[in-house]
Amino acid sequence: MRFDVVSIFPEYLAPLDLSLIGKARTEGLLELAVHDLRSYTQDRHRTVDDTPYGGGAGMVMKPEPWAQSLTDIAAASPVAEGSRPTLIVPSPAGEVFNQSLAYELAEEEHLVFACGRYEGIDERVLEWAADSYIVRPVSLGDYVLNGGEVAVLAMVEAIGRLIPGVVGNPESLIEESHSDGLLEYPVYTKPSSWRERDVPDVLLSGNHGKIAKFRKELQLRRTAQRRPDLIDILDVSNFSKTEKNVLWELGYAVVNGRAVRREDS
Ligand code: ADE
Repeated sequence: MRFDVVSIFPEYLAPLDLSLIGKARTEGLLELAVHDLRSYTQDRHRTVDDTPYGGGAGMVMKPEPWAQSLTDIAAASPVAEGSRPTLIVPSPAGEVFNQSLAYELAEEEHLVFACGRYEGIDERVLEWAADSYIVRPVSLGDYVLNGGEVAVLAMVEAIGRLIPGVVGNPESLIEESHSDGLLEYPVYTKPSSWRERDVPDVLLSGNHGKIAKFRKELQLRRTAQRRPDLIDILDVSNFSKTEKNVLWELGYAVVNGRAVRREDS
């Protein structure tokens, strides 16, 4: 899989040399190149921004350096003739990035990230790029960052770790938060008693069936408490009687394979 990142702060992406993603690059599991947008400017001052038409605060990124860089990157794309690489434009105005989008993007052969700064990139770039890219504005969440670089660090890590071989133990991908629509259960390690706090007995029992049941119950409790929005979209049609009982205790009834708050049903 290939990643290209375009930014006016290429050094911002240095952490992608480290840890599992850095190792995956060294091992050739993924290719990643960072491009300096300013190297695609033509003027002496290497200008990348200008004032917004219609007025308003801040500056807007000029279209031409983007067109130059994206043309070069598309020309070198490994995708087959007739298909297009995906251009991800980090923006608080995009669709929200989540684990299911990470899985979807991990299937792509070539992802290009366009890091906007200031008030964003001239909108015509996104329209123009649709000829050679599948263009997707993507938001990390409902808050505003100073630019797309931090969002790219997060997305490349979330997507890159799903590429086979990047994470040593693939089981850890299955059991983590969001992989089954629920938050992960709490984890403990030695010592079993620490500062008057004991690890739950069942985890020391060696009874794998009981442990799995206990963990699922904690996942449900934690998700209902911290992220009730995830319970609302959960498919509970294959839930066991015990799991449905936990939902009931948490204030939900099961209706047509969904958990609905009892006061709403
Ligand atoms: N750029 C600025 N804010 C952002 C956000 N919330 N997500 C992605 N990119 C951004």
